[in-house]
Amino acid sequence: MSSQFNLTAFRRQLGTQWLAHSMLFFEELESTNTYLKKLPADEIEQGLLCLTDHQTEGRGQYERKWESKRGKNLTFSLAFKPSSNERLHVLTLACALAIVEYLNDSVSDEPCACIKWPNDVMLNDRKVGGLLTETVFSGNVLDRLVIGIGLNVNQQKFPADVSKVATSISLETKKPVDREKLLSEILQRIEHKYQLWDRHKNDLIKVINRNIIGYGQWIGLIIDEELQEDPFKLLGINEHGELLMLNQDGGIESFSYEQIRLVTD
Ligand code: BTN
Repeated sequence: MSSQFNLTAFRRQLGTQWLAHSMLFFEELESTNTYLKKLPADEIEQGLLCLTDHQTEGRGQYERKWESKRGKNLTFSLAFKPSSNERLHVLTLACALAIVEYLNDSVSDEPCACIKWPNDVMLNDRKVGGLLTETVFSGNVLDRLVIGIGLNVNQQKFPADVSKVATSISLETKKPVDREKLLSEILQRIEHKYQLWDRHKNDLIKVINRNIIGYGQWIGLIIDEELQEDPFKLLGINEHGELLMLNQDGGIESFSYEQIRLVTD
C-alpha cells in the first residue's frame, strides 16, 4: 500500500530557516531534477523544493534510471543559487553527509550509514539513496544548482537486478517510516550543511572524509573503465570534491567522478 505524501504534516514539522519554504509538490512528474532545470529563472528561489510521489523518468548518475515505487520513498530536488560555481561537488557530498548523519543518529543503534563516493548513501552496506547534481548556466554564469535526492524509505521489494545491493530504511529497521518527519529532519540538516559549505568551513571536508566508505584504506580502482592491478589508498576529497588517491609509488592522484569507480566490496 502506498500513501500520498501529507503536505500539511510536512509543513507543520519543517523547522528550517529558509530551505523548502517555497515548495512544489506533484503526485506524478517526469523527474524533479528535470522540472527544476526547466523552470524559468524568475521562478527559482534559493532553497526551492520540488517533491513528487512518483517519477516516470527518474534519472540517476551515469545516465542510469532511478526507479522508485509510488508513494513509498522520497524523490525530491532542491534548487540553490550559489554565488560561485566552485566546490559544487563538496556541496553534494555535504547533502549526502546530512542524510548519513541523520541515519546514524536517528535510525540505527550502531553507526552503519556512510557515503560511497561520489554520490551514494549506504546503509548496512547496501545503497539506500543517491544524489544527482546538475547545473543550469546562463552564458558563463551559474544560474542554479539542482541537487536531486532519491531515498528508499518504505519500499520492501526491489527489482531483481538491484535487490542484492539496494535497501530501504524500513527494510533495515523493520519498522514503517514517517516520510513527512524524515524529510523535514533531513532538510533541516541539509540547511545546516549548506551554511557550513557557504562559509567555507574547513571541518566540513574532514567530516565528509570520515564518513566516506574506504577512507584511509587501500582499495581497488577502475580508472577509465580499466581495473587497476594494484590498490590505491583513499586519502579523502579535496576542496573540489575530487577524490585523492595514493598510488603504490607514493604519488597522490586526484580523480573526478567521471574518471573512476571504486571497488569497495
Ligand atoms: C544515483 O544514485 O544514481 C542518483 C539518483 C538520484 C535520484 C533522484 S530522485 C529525485 C531526483 N530526480 C531525478 O530524476 N533524479 C534525482
